[in-house]
Amino acid sequence: MSISTTRELFSHELADAMSAEQQVLKMLPELQKEALHPELKQALKDHEGETKQHVKNLQAVFKQLGDSPEETTCFGMKGLADEHKALHEEKPSPEMLEMANVTGAIKTEHYEMVMYTDLVQMAKDLGEPECAQLLQENLDQEKAMAKRVDALSKTIAKEAKSREKELVGARNGRRA
Ligand SMILES: [Fe+2]
Ligand SMILES: [Fe+2]
Repeated sequence: MSISTTRELFSHELADAMSAEQQVLKMLPELQKEALHPELKQALKDHEGETKQHVKNLQAVFKQLGDSPEETTCFGMKGLADEHKALHEEKPSPEMLEMANVTGAIKTEHYEMVMYTDLVQMAKDLGEPECAQLLQENLDQEKAMAKRVDALSKTIAKEAKSREKELVGARNGRRA
């Protein structure tokens, strides 16, 4: 498909968002398994439900436009998924894997926030308020999730730091 109008670009960006959400849906169950903190596990579980709704909202946007999503891959999200895979190859401890996953989740939510901020604006500019509303719902949930994982990352990092301090203390104690 050639893209020469803002409507065509909007349709392409929407298909890209659909691909991003579907990739997130594939990643979330694994991230839940890898989460050690029950609050993190719960946040990821809640977001899986929200992500399913994001896909539905995108489908509703396509329906509203009388359009359907083209087959496309969101390479931004694929990059984030690849980072997760690459980290596994470094054989991280469960605690370090969890920490990296939280950072990955923050990156993912921010990517989605930028994606939906742009899509909401495009929908408004194209005179599609119903579409803008649906996309805004997705944006609001991404923002809320970004805040939630950001708060959790601070707790998890603090715990990791004190654990490492204890470990060093114990080692030094043995040496003394
Ligand atoms: Fe999403
Ligand atoms: Fe998200």
